Amino acid sequence: MQIGKELYSGKAKSVFETDDPDRLILRFRDDTSAFDGEKVAQLARKGTVNNKFNAFIMQRLEDAGIPTHFDELLSKNESVVKRLEMIPLECVVRNIAAGSLCKRLGVQEGMDLDPPTFEFFLKNDELHDPMINDYHIRSFGWATDEEVAQMKKLTFEANDALKAIFQAEGMLLVDYKLEFGRYHGRVLLGDEFTPDGCRLWDADTRKKLDKDRFRQGLGGVVEAYEEVARRLGVDLSDVNA
Ligand code: TMP
Ligand code: ASP
Repeated sequence: MQIGKELYSGKAKSVFETDDPDRLILRFRDDTSAFDGEKVAQLARKGTVNNKFNAFIMQRLEDAGIPTHFDELLSKNESVVKRLEMIPLECVVRNIAAGSLCKRLGVQEGMDLDPPTFEFFLKNDELHDPMINDYHIRSFGWATDEEVAQMKKLTFEANDALKAIFQAEGMLLVDYKLEFGRYHGRVLLGDEFTPDGCRLWDADTRKKLDKDRFRQGLGGVVEAYEEVARRLGVDLSDVNA
């Protein structure tokens, strides 16, 4: 696979063309950002840990019947993915109240949400990713009704699979964000699933093991990601190589 020109550089990943028009290379960088790019830092090993973590989870989601863009690991911090036409929406499922939900609705962090709740956000840093609903998506033509239904279905199916994966290793999946894209007429899961885009707590102590450690200045950010990865059995053998 020949790496081509850089198509796009986001806050934590860069995207490159390849010699195959249907494939891209994702490069996971050590850059970390929060609050829509307001707080940034470089965290050693994060790119490699997240690349390996994402590969592991994407494969587990495929096993659970959720179609993803993931093809294969290319290097310690790069993966080959299918080239999607991204839908500019973030799909968030919450099993436990935390983050913006608590601020917005004045509910206590840690409250169980039964059933889990679903929210759409518009992917737009300048506007601070505003929450939107299905009607906005329809009025502005960001996705078809069929795509909206498919994104909700796949995001909830992912919840069942992911909750079980983390629960088995003593962790609670508090919430997470997924992004989807179009590939030859199908909706596939794109972007990434890593502790940068979800909340994970230790089931016994409720210790935060995700990007809230960075947002809240708790320290030990990458160490927490590595702990989650190790518990799941993700191969991190060449992280320091
Ligand atoms: P929130 O509580 O800030 O709305 O975030 C909910 C979940 O979605 C949390 O796991 C973090 C994730 N998320 C992102 O990964 N990127 C984003 O831009 C936003 C708004 C949320
Ligand atoms: N992913 C967003 C950012 O980097 C929001 C966040 O994670 O707080 O700025």
